[in-house]
Amino acid sequence: MMSVIGKEQPRVDGPLKVSGKAMYTSDHHFPGMVYAVPVCSTIANGEIQGIDTSAAEKMAGVLAIFHRKNIGRLLRAADNHHFGADMSRLDEHRPPLEDDVIRYYGQYVALAVADSFEQATAAADAVKVRYREHKPNVDERLAAETNQKVESERGDPVKAFADAEIQVDQSYDLPPETHNPIELHASVALWDGSAFTLYETSQGVVNHRNVLAQMLGVPKENVRVITKFLGSGFGGKLWPWTQSALAAAAARQLGRPVKLVVSRRMMFQSVGHRPRVQQRIRLSATRDGKLTSLRQDWVNHTSILDDYKENCGEATPQMYSVPNLRITSALARRNVGTPTPMRGPGAVPGLWATESAMDELALKLGMDPVELRLANEPQIDEGLKIPFSSRHLKECLSTGAERFGWSKRDPRVGSMKRGGLTLGWGMASCSWQAARFPCAATVELRDDGTARVSCATQDIGTGSYTIVAQLAAEKLGLPLDKVEAVLGDTRLPPGPLSGGSGAAAAVVPAVFEAAGRAVDALLALAGKASDLEYTNGRVHSRGEPAASGVAFEDFLRLGSVRAVSGAGSSEGMGAFGTAKLAFSSHSFGAHFVEVTWQPEIARLRVSRVVTVIDAGRILNPLAGRNQIEGAVVMGIGMSLFEETSYDPRNGAPINSNLADYIVATNADVPSLEVHFVEHPDTKLNELGARGIGEIGLAGMAAAIASAVHHATGVRVRELPIKIENLLIRAPAPYLS
Ligand code: MOS
Repeated sequence: MMSVIGKEQPRVDGPLKVSGKAMYTSDHHFPGMVYAVPVCSTIANGEIQGIDTSAAEKMAGVLAIFHRKNIGRLLRAADNHHFGADMSRLDEHRPPLEDDVIRYYGQYVALAVADSFEQATAAADAVKVRYREHKPNVDERLAAETNQKVESERGDPVKAFADAEIQVDQSYDLPPETHNPIELHASVALWDGSAFTLYETSQGVVNHRNVLAQMLGVPKENVRVITKFLGSGFGGKLWPWTQSALAAAAARQLGRPVKLVVSRRMMFQSVGHRPRVQQRIRLSATRDGKLTSLRQDWVNHTSILDDYKENCGEATPQMYSVPNLRITSALARRNVGTPTPMRGPGAVPGLWATESAMDELALKLGMDPVELRLANEPQIDEGLKIPFSSRHLKECLSTGAERFGWSKRDPRVGSMKRGGLTLGWGMASCSWQAARFPCAATVELRDDGTARVSCATQDIGTGSYTIVAQLAAEKLGLPLDKVEAVLGDTRLPPGPLSGGSGAAAAVVPAVFEAAGRAVDALLALAGKASDLEYTNGRVHSRGEPAASGVAFEDFLRLGSVRAVSGAGSSEGMGAFGTAKLAFSSHSFGAHFVEVTWQPEIARLRVSRVVTVIDAGRILNPLAGRNQIEGAVVMGIGMSLFEETSYDPRNGAPINSNLADYIVATNADVPSLEVHFVEHPDTKLNELGARGIGEIGLAGMAAAIASAVHHATGVRVRELPIKIENLLIRAPAPYLS
């Protein structure tokens, strides 16, 4: 019986956030702190011919205008993608200001530093940069140019497709999407003459520390990275971006604390995005709906210098039973900033395409799309040829269908009506890999009756403080309010990235082991031969009731000990982890979506969503549902609104603000029903918990596109689904 785990626990950090006491990166102020504002290139392709800083340098409050020749040496960080304490990964490898070549619009070309933010902004504007400009390539049509690779292959999909009775051959496009967490990327850098303290907006302080130590050319012990609170990241803050090295280098040059906050406009230019992806999907099946082949060929754009692959085949090899399969990837270079993971990288774009194609196949077969999925459920992971650790997709499909009322669906296009609106009902399955990252943690029992659990992972708004505290409370038998969770600082035991949905599974074994060892250390105070045990915060004689003993804090005080501690760790496991895979571990789910369509005024709304998720044991259903709901909302934005547009003339992302880059808001979001089918995945950890940050976005776009087709008869294969897609082709009363 769990007393704390699995219960709806409000955020332990909630009071700090609602009272304004939670310190986000840009909230940090220090005596003598100065402000840095980057100068951004206004071309996307060319060379800097000269930088005139003379006017800017003379302006009030200006301390320095840094550029390639005076910023000091910034080095390259060697890639180490091995998850763990030595990980060193960044997506934009070129150190800022390294050369005079401009490869994307908004590339930093100089840095103005002044006493105030306003002075630094004015100085940055006054820096004159002369460029030799070449025509940028931001072409939206992608062709496989480079890095072509077969990702997964089995059987003979070409022959099977050619021989099949039923075929689907379609292409699905996804535009570049820009991460728009409310909190802007920011760095506050301090240099004390030998060591850096860097307050960063990071989803991975340990990786950030390792990368910055290399770029700054100091031992990693001389870099401390702190992220106490993050106003979300969605993957955009997984790896360090160039503003961090610039802020640190400026702090070193000036001997002053430096704050650099990336503007919303710069967020569209220089801190990553989900790349444009174009995919061709070929599916074939027998007349009774058994898949005979699946091909997925994708190209994603990347930047000029970096090979960012959007791993669209992440879920495909294991999703369905199909004997013949081939997945290929390729890149196309564009004059854009380097892409980076966005929530569910690879799987989310991949499932948009493959699940849309499954819906099209169901239509060709005249088969219910839920039935088509059920008919192609695999027994094992046919890509890796190993068993699943836990897979309950069928239950997600049947539970979702039941809760949504799917059996009442009339499959004829435009046939369902309610209150003068046309209804569209669609669905899709989803999947996201489950991993366990390496993790270390420490638990202390203190003489004030509290416990402290610490780990250099971070809470990016997802509830990590709460689940880490819950784990310690559970293992120690203490109430949650007696446990302090401390995260987000590289001085703590090395912890995992908040990414890849891999942190939750990782902290379970590490915190449990650390708590167990803290209890061992407590009991050892009485000497090796003692006959004591620990139950729910009390130390007592073995075999006697806990009430007969003393509270652990009294036991500590009796021994004049302030605190005892224990350390614990988890090994990496799973596709992102390190151990060899014995099992294929994924989360699964199904989305059922209702849209309403008013052809008279071309109004499309998502009116109802039922999502059922199989993510193992849910540590905190309150935070867990919140994660899935947030992802579903993001799925509505991805399906209907989100798109970064590049100006073909100068390569600028032209909708680089929250007015023109549309994300889903409250008014776009209907009632959401989220349900978990709880089957603990004990191959991953003893509680059977999997991470849930990403799975809820996967499949949403296909489910919405499916519902839109059901309502309108228009199959949109290019996101976002715009009103004009439906106006031009839908049979509308005023066109007939
Ligand atoms: Mo997630 S894209 O790993 O933050």
